[in-house]
Amino acid sequence: MGHNHERHIAIILAAGKGTRFKSKKPKVVHNILGKPMIHYVSLAARWSNPERIIYVVGHGKDHVIKAINCLNCTYVEQKEQLGTGHAVAQTKPYWENFDGIVMILNGDLPLVEGETLKNAVKYMEALMRFEGASVESENRDYRNEKIAGVVITTKVPNPLGYGRIIKDKHHRIIEIVEEKDADHQTQQINEINTGIYLFYAPYLKEVIDKLQNDNAQNEYYLTDVVKLLNQMGKEVYALLVPDYTQFIGVNDRWDLAKAENILRMKYLQFWSYAGTTFHNPETVYIEFDVELSPDVEVFPGVSLKGRTTVGEDTIIEEGVVLKNAKIGKNCRILKGSVIENSTIQDNAVIGPYARIRDNAVIGQEAQIGNFVEVKNSTIGEKTAAKHLSYIGDAEVGREVNIGAGTITCNYDGFQKHKTVIKDRAFIGSDTMLVAPIIVGEEAITGSGSVITKDVPDKALAVERSPMKIVENYAEKRKKRKRKNDG
Ligand code: UD1
Ligand code: CA
Repeated sequence: MGHNHERHIAIILAAGKGTRFKSKKPKVVHNILGKPMIHYVSLAARWSNPERIIYVVGHGKDHVIKAINCLNCTYVEQKEQLGTGHAVAQTKPYWENFDGIVMILNGDLPLVEGETLKNAVKYMEALMRFEGASVESENRDYRNEKIAGVVITTKVPNPLGYGRIIKDKHHRIIEIVEEKDADHQTQQINEINTGIYLFYAPYLKEVIDKLQNDNAQNEYYLTDVVKLLNQMGKEVYALLVPDYTQFIGVNDRWDLAKAENILRMKYLQFWSYAGTTFHNPETVYIEFDVELSPDVEVFPGVSLKGRTTVGEDTIIEEGVVLKNAKIGKNCRILKGSVIENSTIQDNAVIGPYARIRDNAVIGQEAQIGNFVEVKNSTIGEKTAAKHLSYIGDAEVGREVNIGAGTITCNYDGFQKHKTVIKDRAFIGSDTMLVAPIIVGEEAITGSGSVITKDVPDKALAVERSPMKIVENYAEKRKKRKRKNDG
């Protein structure tokens, strides 16, 4: 059998408590851009195309497994969190007879790129396949028996907290020394262990049970595997990746914030190259599942969440929040509007300060203005509700005009009822529409009316007490006051 490609499996360590998070929840389920941290490591691992992904879970394992959300993955429980070496040891049954590469990843590395892992696998394969410089060897079946592993390393400005890499001139790692076990001189080393390792399974099997916990933290360190492999006469190489931002280990919430910022800027850059303009992108929040289109323009302070999509030429003004919103083409979403689980069709204008929620659908060229709330309603094409209204559980036709202050009174204290307003109806300002109710086509309601009965097509409905004029009332009032003041 040729060894053009070694087989590989991935192991992701996610059993730790994450004590430094000070959280009820396990560390790796905390969200970054709307997805659990573990989601990103999983995605990167999958990109390298492993035969199998094994997760080591323990602390809060049900929550972690739910967050991972992978049916054909393998979950191995680490009952006590005795260290990263102990975590890997729990997975041994899955690779002790495996003739390939075991790739191990810490679960708290949300920024690592799939391509980096792919390259690491290739590098390991290349090392295993050829001896030293004989790269042109015809004999592709040759396996370099000395190669036991590759550790991805990087150089950081501040190595505090990371394991330090001690290596020889040929990039062979002699030892990895944890922060807490490092002497002053070792602490100066700024090449660190990223927490990503590739080992040739048959050799890993030889050493994994030999780890000791006689160190500052009394843990079984996976990093000590390197030393043990060296003692066997095997070699572990450092793959030094210059871009250290990929390898932030998220240990506390401030690391989480830093990691999220880096990832956020990457996504904004991606959408920017795809044709979206961002004004002051530092202030724009965007989640993993959001999709933008060319010639979208996003102003400062906008939040784009969930499965939000935005069509071409749409403008999103300052402070708008979109969550699971489907926004059409050439819409204008004006300052401070909040749109959730709803659809806005092409050329509509929303806001400023509108709120649209619960499966509302706003038709093409409709205008929903300031301080208008639309809930679970469909609004027809070219319909306008431009000021201070509540429209809930309503079906509004096309070219309807809804006057300022109109309210659908949809709730009687027990149940929600439906309001139907047909095409080209004209709802006077401050109309109360007491549902269930139907306002017919081209029907008109007088402003200030409380409408409690259906209005036929083309009819006018007014509900008001007759207005009274009292002449010279101001003078009478003054007189009365003088008398009282006596
Ligand atoms: C680890 C490395 C360190 C490296 C750093 C990179 C060790 C001993 N040290 O340190 O050299 O520079 O990562 O970020 O490995 N976990 C378990 N079971 C356990 C302990 C941990 O599953 O018993 C998991 C955690 O959930 C976490 C990962 O392993 O996802 C790493 O553990 P963590 O405690 O964060 O290791 P570091 O101290 O950061
Ligand atoms: Ca860590």
